[in-house]
Amino acid sequence: MRVLGIETSCDETAASIVERDAAGRATILSNVVRSQLEEHAPYGGVVPELAARAHVSHLDRIIAKAAETAGVKLDEVDAIAATAGPGLIGGVLVGLTTAKALAAALGKPLIAVNHLEAHALTARLTDGIAFPYLMLLVSGGHSQFVLVRGVGDYERWGTTIDDALGEAFDKVAKLLGLGNPGGPEVEKMAAKGDPRRFNFPRPLLKEARLDFSFSGLKTAVRLAAEQAAPLTDQDVADICASFQRTVAEIVATRARSALQKYAAELPGQPLRLVVAGGVAANKAIGAALREAAAASGAELIIPPIPLCTDNGAMVAWAGAERLALGSSDRLDISAKARWPLDSEDMGLNHAA
Ligand code: KG4
Ligand code: ZN
Repeated sequence: MRVLGIETSCDETAASIVERDAAGRATILSNVVRSQLEEHAPYGGVVPELAARAHVSHLDRIIAKAAETAGVKLDEVDAIAATAGPGLIGGVLVGLTTAKALAAALGKPLIAVNHLEAHALTARLTDGIAFPYLMLLVSGGHSQFVLVRGVGDYERWGTTIDDALGEAFDKVAKLLGLGNPGGPEVEKMAAKGDPRRFNFPRPLLKEARLDFSFSGLKTAVRLAAEQAAPLTDQDVADICASFQRTVAEIVATRARSALQKYAAELPGQPLRLVVAGGVAANKAIGAALREAAAASGAELIIPPIPLCTDNGAMVAWAGAERLALGSSDRLDISAKARWPLDSEDMGLNHAA
């Protein structure tokens, strides 16, 4: 089967066509992403109203390009999938409404995809892994451990009680006068810095829970920057390196605990840790996770970075996984700004 996937929940306008064969193997026929970085650059962050307008301006063309690149006519796809939440509601509405219109006009099923589920299932698209597995989602909006038991069957084991990890990178970059998005900028500076110069706090780390907290760390970074002002390039590099070391240690420590819980609660199941979200691009965090996984006897799977960040292929794939299980959605389904993975309406929907 072939599914068109549409993603508009943040600042990427994306569309993709993915094919799933009877054995469950995936082929990405096209994956078109248009980033809105330039539109938001003057404001130092994503402006929701501008994002929604840019999605309106570009989505039609992005979908046409996805079809053309795939060599597939839109009336040849088997379903239309779109992110229905969580995310910036204006953007979500643009993508979901477009998907509904296409589904109605072409007489195809609609699949309303949870954006977090799309991230969660990406490792099955790229690496064909079986259920269950543990996922660490670290993006600009989320930092959470999720036990992935099956399509629609998730258990959240920990989340952030304040900032998401990508958000912490972005805020640290902003207060140091680096560009946006901050993650790659901080990583670049960190490469030239001394990761041991500053000792930043590790909030919550002494507690057994699997939650994260990054806002105290961000405040500590601000205080260090104020104390060292005026900042030389070396100061900035040292702060970035020390911040990055600290978050890598926090994430790795939590990953070990999560894998321990996994081993205890799912005895006999292979230990697999899947990473998703834009922060997966960070090499220091990847290395720390690799060590944590090795120490726990777990396999670590980090999909290719363009599929870790927001894209249409993951939405198409989540749609294909649901459709293969006979699930689709009614055309009057609503967009949702908030939609946790472990909420009741994540189950398969056979009533559409
Ligand atoms: O998944 P994503 O593309 O978008 C969503 O938030 O859904 O993630 C973007 C986030 C941003 O906060 C960005 O700063 C962060 O991922 N990021 C990084 C790196 N590349 C992107 N953080 C740390 N190191 C990186 N190399
Ligand atoms: Zn995302």
